[in-house]
Amino acid sequence: MTDTPAPKGLAARAANYGDRAFALYLRRSFIRSAGYSDAMLGRPVIGIADTRSDLNSCHRTAPELVEAVKRGVLAAGGLPLAFPTISLCEPFLAPTSMHYRNLMALDTEAMLSAQPLDAVVLVGGCDKTVPAQLMAAISAGVPAVQLVVGPMSAMRFEGERLSACTDCRRFWAAYRAGEVDEAKIARVEGALATTAGTCGVMGTASTMAAIAAVLGFMPLEAASIPAVHADRLRAAEAAGAQAMRLVARPVAPAALVTPASLDNALVTLLALGGSTNAVVHLAAIAGRAGLALDLKRLDALSDRTPVLVDLKPTGEGYMEDFHAAGGLRVLLHELRDLLHLEAPDLDGVPLGTRIGAPPFADHRVIRRRGDPVSPVGGLVALYGSLAPGGAILKRAAATPSLFEHEGRAIVFDGLEDLARRIDDDSLDVTPADILVLKNAGPRSPAGMPEAGHLPIPRKLARAGVKDMIRISDCRMSGTAFGTTILHVAPEAAAGGPLALAETGDRIRLSVRDRRLDLLVDDATLAARRARWSPPPAPPRGWDRLVAEQVLQAPDGADLAFLRALG
Ligand code: FES
Repeated sequence: MTDTPAPKGLAARAANYGDRAFALYLRRSFIRSAGYSDAMLGRPVIGIADTRSDLNSCHRTAPELVEAVKRGVLAAGGLPLAFPTISLCEPFLAPTSMHYRNLMALDTEAMLSAQPLDAVVLVGGCDKTVPAQLMAAISAGVPAVQLVVGPMSAMRFEGERLSACTDCRRFWAAYRAGEVDEAKIARVEGALATTAGTCGVMGTASTMAAIAAVLGFMPLEAASIPAVHADRLRAAEAAGAQAMRLVARPVAPAALVTPASLDNALVTLLALGGSTNAVVHLAAIAGRAGLALDLKRLDALSDRTPVLVDLKPTGEGYMEDFHAAGGLRVLLHELRDLLHLEAPDLDGVPLGTRIGAPPFADHRVIRRRGDPVSPVGGLVALYGSLAPGGAILKRAAATPSLFEHEGRAIVFDGLEDLARRIDDDSLDVTPADILVLKNAGPRSPAGMPEAGHLPIPRKLARAGVKDMIRISDCRMSGTAFGTTILHVAPEAAAGGPLALAETGDRIRLSVRDRRLDLLVDDATLAARRARWSPPPAPPRGWDRLVAEQVLQAPDGADLAFLRALG
């Protein structure tokens, strides 16, 4: 007996009326109201997950990208059907966009699983959207092509170039220090984000686009094409055509997430000097495929992977420079011996073939192996009595003179406490102290904000202090810089040792030994633990589900029930 092939196109995934023929008759009746011909309705269906939103300015070009994807699908003989999903833009969500990444993943997974789609093009870009879409596609098992909106362009401003958002932070720090006045900060505000697209530096959006491309979900060059370039529309058209190839040769998204491809993603992340957030997102993506992302593996790769890309926040250039310099193909060509070149993309083409011989390279932006920005990778994992589950330091954006340091802790109980006291001139703080923020992890009501880049206390900033060691259980924007230790696990709200740290404690950081230790004796810690209680659970809704289900940062801060079974 032969198996009946699964229904395709609009015949797939019929609504459950107890009469499949009736369900399909009803579906055809309704889709006819859209004016399609019989020939069109008989084609394979390519869904387009459309994240246009007036509250996502990074995705302002999503409508024209969707139209270009449709062009590609139609030309290849398919029926493109776009549908909306949740869209997340960093500055528009409270408490944080991170708090809603898993909701977007859940929404997208449900729509991919429910609708009659033979394959899908995922239109993402802003930080949390790409990981959410990949997590969703892996869990839904629907063949998926990732398309990103692309980075915004840097714009000339008073003798320099500006783009969101490393420059946002640089000018804000200068404003806090009294070096920039009210009039100039107002002019800067209007000059940071002047085109559509994602942040124009190697922040989280650009890092995740690169990772999605290296994993094989889109062509390598498509990761960095500027949002406003005509090639971005051609990439969208090509994404539609690629989705049609997946109809003929389906590939489960999970098949692209393997120990080898995760290694490739980590090497790329390190060589880019990419965002710390990518470690959390990659762990979540791996978790959906039933794999764990080992921070010790990140550490091992970090010691042999140089930083080669000279972009802000760790260097000088912008994403448009990276693209013009040859982009990912040039970078990966330099890293060939560190990569698993056999790892396939959606078309089954090995990474080594995709890299090929780049036609042009500007090695001022993408350095040669013999002339790196840094001889070792941009990120390191730390363990120790303050972070038994691990923590992350962006070494490439940190101050080397602080790498081996013991200091007095100045502890803030949460974001409100931080806001209340950090600029108080009576705060007892010196540049040698270590600023500690707790209760800002994934389980906390704060929602793991990008607040790990604690501001330098105003009185120290005015005295010229540019950097201090800062420790927290939250995240840092991929566009920020400084000696900031992030993602401390377990977090304070989960009762990790961070919850027990108090002002005056001694803390020791050793990047050489990969250690982060709270130098407090066991009896004192036991007494503090007896007095500790967890934060109250939110009463209902999404917040309640997050508080009950969210995992720690090393597990991707995914919800436990959404990870792969087994
Ligand atoms: Fe959307 Fe930076 S705010 S990518």
